[in-house]
Amino acid sequence: MADIIDGKAIAEDVVAKVKTQTATLAEHGVTPGLAVVIVGEDPASQVYVASKSRRAKECGFHSVQHSLPAETSEDALVALVEELNADPAIHGILVQLPLPGHIDEARIIQTIDPDKDVDGFHFINVGRLGTGALDSAFVPCTPAGAMLMLERVRGRDLSGLSAVVIGRSNIVGKPMANLLLAANATVTVAHSRTKDLPALAATADILVAAVGRPEMVRGDWVKPGATVIDVGINRIPAPEKGEGKTRLVGDVAFAEAKERAGAITPVPGGVGPMTIAMLMANTLTSAFRTAG
Ligand code: GUN
Repeated sequence: MADIIDGKAIAEDVVAKVKTQTATLAEHGVTPGLAVVIVGEDPASQVYVASKSRRAKECGFHSVQHSLPAETSEDALVALVEELNADPAIHGILVQLPLPGHIDEARIIQTIDPDKDVDGFHFINVGRLGTGALDSAFVPCTPAGAMLMLERVRGRDLSGLSAVVIGRSNIVGKPMANLLLAANATVTVAHSRTKDLPALAATADILVAAVGRPEMVRGDWVKPGATVIDVGINRIPAPEKGEGKTRLVGDVAFAEAKERAGAITPVPGGVGPMTIAMLMANTLTSAFRTAG
């Protein structure tokens, strides 16, 4: 039976360190500032944004939230981002995605000052990560959190290990592959057009699932002893809990996979809590950088 990697506990460790260092910065007259921008009323996004703002306050940050109506124009959103770029009290800017269809997401992301881009989505930060310039990059929060969990099991150096990342999104799959490569793993990125995915997955010492398809990765896809990182958060019907009830599952069939894996992240309580913790860590890093 696999070790269960406790994302909640590791996230609490990260947040505890952030709190301590925030207190140190305060002695130098600096308070990390995080601005979170949400456009429209998507219920899932509202839940995420509220927890980001709550965590920021808990860390002792200056936390501001801008909730804009769905019909906000692209130009108005650009103007807000430029205002936040120029605000010395703000060290991190996060524009919650997805944005309404009439707004060009790429334009908004590229408007954010790369040195306040705590999501790590700006081309400059993507380029820093892709060239291994990890000291200056902001790394996207979900893959950064996944790496920290992996580190607990495998250490920092993944030399000689093979990693298969299922999913090629800009937010998770691609940055995850770059981080694994920077840690010396031998990396394969798989996706919906990959042939014989189960056989490929079964070669992985480190298997990362980031596809957004409930329980797609079955137990027999897992190499015995592998470390399995499940990035998926999927809500599925749970009639056993009662009429209309739902439950959260990952991209991995947990009950099957844990019988073969050496270590595995659960859903919920795995990668999810890490994402917000890493956002706090990135914002603190940004404040330290500007404090010199
Ligand atoms: N929507 C889903 N995940 C994320 C994220 O990590 N950052 C932002 N900005 N939006 C998201």
